[in-house]
Amino acid sequence: MTTPEFGDRDDPHAQARNARNAPLLLHSLTLFSEVIGRIFAAARPATVVEVGVESGGASSIYLDHGADDVYCIESSPTEEMRNTLAANANLHLVEGFSPEILDSIPNGDVYILDGDHNYVTVRRELDWILAKVPDAIVILHDVLWPWGRRDLYYNAAAIDTDCVHEHGDDGPTVWHDEVTPAGFVGLGQFTVATEAGGEGNGVLTAVEDALAAQPQGSHEFALVPAIFGLGIIYPTGDPDRVDRLRSALEPYSDSPLLAAMENNRIALYTRVLAMQYEMAAAAVNRDELVHQLDRQRDEHHREIAELQRRHHNEMAALRANPPISIRNVTRRAARKAVRGVRGVSRGRSAR
Ligand SMILES: C[S@@+](CC[C@H](N)C(=O)[O-])C[C@H]1O[C@@H](n2cnc3c(N)ncnc32)[C@H](O)[C@@H]1O
Repeated sequence: MTTPEFGDRDDPHAQARNARNAPLLLHSLTLFSEVIGRIFAAARPATVVEVGVESGGASSIYLDHGADDVYCIESSPTEEMRNTLAANANLHLVEGFSPEILDSIPNGDVYILDGDHNYVTVRRELDWILAKVPDAIVILHDVLWPWGRRDLYYNAAAIDTDCVHEHGDDGPTVWHDEVTPAGFVGLGQFTVATEAGGEGNGVLTAVEDALAAQPQGSHEFALVPAIFGLGIIYPTGDPDRVDRLRSALEPYSDSPLLAAMENNRIALYTRVLAMQYEMAAAAVNRDELVHQLDRQRDEHHREIAELQRRHHNEMAALRANPPISIRNVTRRAARKAVRGVRGVSRGRSAR
């Protein structure tokens, strides 16, 4: 009872090998391939619009699961990503910002939203899709911690100021409610809202508000509580499709097992982040201390050399020109000693 991934009695290290070869932080939509495969089997989409492509690693899985074309919207394409997409004629790179660029490409049967993870961007993307392509299925990444209730901004300057929360370079952690430099930080790639929660903050809040603005019962929302949370919005107009989608998602949707594993994962990962931060800070302190000690040692060497030089000069000056009193004392002492010796020898000869 085993699969190659877990090995067998003759290969007992297969699972550990797979574990250590995986990235420390799982975050890509590629990990949801089996869920996406079930959604695609239920809905059979021809055209997929992917927002937020990064390396392009996830783009081809939509083709693997039966789509004909994928329009890959990315605001900052890298060379690696261009090459990945160029290798497949059915992957179409669309360079620009969502949601503005959505008007310029063919409508999708499925939209995959994984671009800028803030309320205003996601809300505008959803409002556009729900108005213009009401039959589309929308799959959203990052509907849970850390961006479910807290905005992330890839480029806050590109968003209307009154929709942007106070934000900065510090990031969230599981271990307390405030952002911290030891948390999930963007390292120059993105900034993070200082406060979580409230109105107009986070991806899940945008989903709730966008759906609340639709006629009641017009859509269902399923949540897969793994790898930062996958949300699936599907319209309820086609009952057969709804049944297929419900049973496709049933094993994953709201799974307490997945939720427990996800919570454990983010707790462990943010603990590792904190330890890395503390180690880096300790290394900086240690280096500073070493420099301080080096500086003090050099200073002591300089002081010792100066004292030796002075001592040497003073002794040389003393030898060259001893003080008079010492000279006199020395001569008197010498004469007295000589007299003493003479007196002793005279006394001996008189006897
Ligand atoms: C989380 S990554 C996408 C990861 C990818 N979907 C995956 O699973 O491998 C988000 C990407 O969205 C891009 N992005 C951010 N804001 C965007 C926007 N408004 N429109 C298009 N792309 C955006 C970023 O440059 C980044 O590459």
